[in-house]
Amino acid sequence: MSYEFILTEAQYQPHVALIRLNRPKELNALNLQLMQEIKHALLEFDQNEDVRCIIITGNERAFAAGADIKQMESRTAIDMLVIDQFETWDQIRKTKKPVIAAVSGFCLGGGCELAMTCDMIVASETAKFGQPEIKLAIMPGAGGTQRLTRAVGKALAMEMVLTGKFISADEAMEAGLINRVVPEELYLEEAVKLAKEIAQQSPVAVRLAKESVLKAFDTGLQEGLYFERKNFYMCFASEDQKEGMNAFVEKRNAVFKGR
Ligand code: HXC
Repeated sequence: MSYEFILTEAQYQPHVALIRLNRPKELNALNLQLMQEIKHALLEFDQNEDVRCIIITGNERAFAAGADIKQMESRTAIDMLVIDQFETWDQIRKTKKPVIAAVSGFCLGGGCELAMTCDMIVASETAKFGQPEIKLAIMPGAGGTQRLTRAVGKALAMEMVLTGKFISADEAMEAGLINRVVPEELYLEEAVKLAKEIAQQSPVAVRLAKESVLKAFDTGLQEGLYFERKNFYMCFASEDQKEGMNAFVEKRNAVFKGR
């Protein structure tokens, strides 16, 4: 499939796929088609056995400045209901392989929500995070009030959501929203480094472990522990587990096949 608003590379690096948002003049504003394209690319990479980790990025000036305001401006509540754009977001969230957001510049509104839907965020020191929807007399709708609050806590989330203020990459790092801050020229490289490290692990164990960490957001502790245990047992059904433990005993590097 050819895309209009994103660029994709299945083998950007060995086992690492890249999705680049590509509406630079509009600061990568997320229109409906762009979101559909991200969903489609993620599904394609999820099904490609060569891909073990996926990076979503924008450009130096913007990861994404939010949902496309011009596209939303005249919509009614019923238009929004019928369009049902969050079905697309739900599909994005269901990606089984790890997804890393490599963020530089503006990461606002739906852009910040997209980054938070990813599993980890690597940021340039020029990144700015915010949920400025309140200034448009709306509010976050793709997880901003929930994921931001879980990541940074009530005090900062409430302030960001109610005032629309932006926070810097350093502030985001301190608040626990992101994994790394690096100089602007290194943010994609750093995300690739992280992706490659994950890609070296057993894809089976990575998939089960990602699923288990995400479960912590949806369940109480007891149910979460039970879920974790099942996935832990499941790891022992893989050839990779035998290889990993064998390699340790034989003092050599493990080679994982995802089986
Ligand atoms: C549509 C956008 C846009 C957006 C920027 N542009 N953000 N178009 N939707 N979200 C367009 C501008 O209209 C302009 O195009 C071009 O990109 C460059 O933007 P400027 O404003 O000229 O740049 P600058 O002065 O540097 O200001 C950057 C900015 C500002 C601070 C990021 O653009 C801004 O405030 N953008 C809106 C941020 C926002 O409110 N996001 C939340 C959206 S609501 P033209 O053609 O006019 O020159 C949302 C809800 C999510 O995300 C709900 C779930 C899906």
